Amino acid sequence: MKKNNLHNRLHKLGKRATGIAAAAFLVLMAGACGSDFEGYIDEEIDYDTTENNANGEKIGVAMPTKDLQRWVQDGENIESHLRESGFTVDLQYANDDTALQNEQINAMVDEGCKILVIGAIDGTTLTDSLEKAKEAGAVIISYDRLIMGSDAINYYATFDNQLVGTLQGQYIVDALDLENTDGPYNIELFTGSPDDNNCNFFFGGAMEVLQPYIDEGKLVIPSGQVSKEDCSIKGWSTDIATKRMNGLLKEYYNDGKKLDAVLSSNDSVALGIADALSKNYKGDFPVLTGQDCDINSVKNILSGKQSMSIFKDTRTLASKVVEMINAIVNGDEVPVNDTTSYDNGTGIIPSLLCDPVFADKENYEEILLDSGYYTADQLK
Ligand code: BGC
Repeated sequence: MKKNNLHNRLHKLGKRATGIAAAAFLVLMAGACGSDFEGYIDEEIDYDTTENNANGEKIGVAMPTKDLQRWVQDGENIESHLRESGFTVDLQYANDDTALQNEQINAMVDEGCKILVIGAIDGTTLTDSLEKAKEAGAVIISYDRLIMGSDAINYYATFDNQLVGTLQGQYIVDALDLENTDGPYNIELFTGSPDDNNCNFFFGGAMEVLQPYIDEGKLVIPSGQVSKEDCSIKGWSTDIATKRMNGLLKEYYNDGKKLDAVLSSNDSVALGIADALSKNYKGDFPVLTGQDCDINSVKNILSGKQSMSIFKDTRTLASKVVEMINAIVNGDEVPVNDTTSYDNGTGIIPSLLCDPVFADKENYEEILLDSGYYTADQLK
């Protein structure tokens, strides 16, 4: 397809996929990101560039920060898959600076990018640049985090965020054997940045599992801090997590009270918690959850300072996003498998959800090494 045709097609595609198209494709895609490659095996995709219309078209990829290992991997994986597919790529990281991310998106639109993949820092701060992108006829895929309050968003590609929380909550239930013991066990709760829509799902998913045990009295929260607001950690900051954990230890555990479990929505927060515990808690390490399988957290899992981490294989999500982009430029149905869960305030955004799994000391070799995600040397 010549460039102009591609632009026409994108223009016609305009707003988001219709419910009918999405629903039809739901059937085809059901489980596409789930059981057929189990969420962590990189799917071998044959990027046959003779069969698509990439034609060197430039795709804008806006990622939030290089500070966290996962976003670096996300960016690199999307870029390499897109290049293999015959696209050129403008990949930008915004250093967690919302003004900079706006500028980067504006520049991508000025350069003529007609498809944008955006991992937003704060999904509510991009309205102006997204409006401009929409006016220019760009198709926008919200990546990993849903961009809220903008009708410029066409698709959402992510891992099943609710399931992330469910797996974390269930891990705590199983590790403490809450079904078969009376407890009570002490737990503290941490989630991530209040401006990240994902936290509603991470925290919500975990609390759905934990709440019955709290109601039953098997789980007790000595601090009483239980709302998402009380438990959030601005910017997913390791330092802020350390400070909050230190404060909790000082105020509620300095009489020798045992801390049995800490729910943490991700690894950068878990690192801060583990640091505070190492220095200021005398008892055995509590059950501690995480997410991303960042190297430092996997090392903590191996040394007993963290219990598990959710593994979201960035290779999988990247290849799924490239499938979506190929479908867009080829005029095919765009693969989505959820058309009910993610409303960004302007309506439901057709979503492609991949299944997360968890890694812990028992299964990390299979999940992280055998899948080729890390080498054993990297975890030393
Ligand atoms: C992502 C997590 C990540 C966190 C902090 C969330 O939106 O889904 O994987 O740990 O942001 O960057």
